[in-house]
Amino acid sequence: MFPIVTKKQLNPTITYMEILAPAVARKAMPGQFIMLRINEDGERIPLTIAGYDREKGTVTIIFQKVGYTTYTLDTLNEGDALLDFVGPLGCASEFEQYVGKHVCVVGGGLGVAIAYPQAKALHELGAKVDFIVGFKNKDLIILEDEFKNACENLFVLTDDGSNGNKGFVTVALEEQLKKVDDYEAVIAIGPLMMMKAVCDMTRPKGIKTIVSMNSLMVDGTGMCGCCRVQVGGETKFACVDGPDFDGHQVDFDLAMRRGRMYIAEEKESMKKHECRMGGAK
Ligand SMILES: Cc1cc2nc3c(=O)[nH]c(=O)nc-3n(C[C@H](O)[C@H](O)[C@H](O)COP(=O)(O)OP(=O)(O)OC[C@H]3O[C@@H](n4cnc5c(N)ncnc54)[C@H](O)[C@@H]3O)c2cc1C
Ligand code: FES
Repeated sequence: MFPIVTKKQLNPTITYMEILAPAVARKAMPGQFIMLRINEDGERIPLTIAGYDREKGTVTIIFQKVGYTTYTLDTLNEGDALLDFVGPLGCASEFEQYVGKHVCVVGGGLGVAIAYPQAKALHELGAKVDFIVGFKNKDLIILEDEFKNACENLFVLTDDGSNGNKGFVTVALEEQLKKVDDYEAVIAIGPLMMMKAVCDMTRPKGIKTIVSMNSLMVDGTGMCGCCRVQVGGETKFACVDGPDFDGHQVDFDLAMRRGRMYIAEEKESMKKHECRMGGAK
């Protein structure tokens, strides 16, 4: 079992947890993820390793409540334990090439939690990081101090402009692309539509763009084929070949079709959770 040693509610939908998992903490690298299962009845879900402490043996996860498993996970507290916590999985991000270079990390929606460890790792290595993050409104903004410490320039946008900076992350990126002419790479993490839009903006400028493919996953070890994505005309598995890929090579339209495959089942699971919680979300 894997005990929850720290739990913090970052906003009404995003939760921070530190899990005691020494074997994972020992080997974890930025860009990798874990698959967890809450209990015998639970499904396995992938979450990015948002941080780790090799001495304490803890691994940090930051997750957004979107469906059955993430809502259920959020009902657990410090002292409770997870049945499975497998990892580190996936390829570590290859960031050494950006030491001393200017990069832009863009995180939107669910992607903010995943983009943060990427920005932090790049910043700690010595890259000059511009970090663009987006939230629906100012009450949902999380980890602003941590984000500031993970970059040179932080741009926080809200969909409704309630923090005084209205727009989607792509608006800020567009501005940056007009002003900055030395981006070595753009790293975009978030909804598929957003990553596709970022790639469409960087392609004409020839700026290398890395995206994190948050495909649906079952085993996380390259055996089931569930997470397959088309990259440069080849089939790749996000769990073992990724999750980072060259965004200009990714077939986003296919990925979007695959991402919508289980909407009916996901709604059914959510109903089950609401029934268990007495109708309240
Ligand atoms: C490698 C990887 C790393 C991830 N890291 C994080 C993380 O650090 N923090 C975090 O909050 N989430 C992360 N995700 C997404 C997370 O795995 C899903 O949100 C989770 O599986 C949803 O499970 P659920 O049962 O709560 O919701 P479901 O009922 O399965 O889904 C509810 C809604 O979320 C969408 N959804 C489901 N799975 C994904 C997915 N993989 N990516 C995007 N949307 C999805 C569905 O389309 C649906 O609209 C990651 C995904 C991958 C593949
Ligand atoms: S999740 Fe099964 S092959 Fe990747």
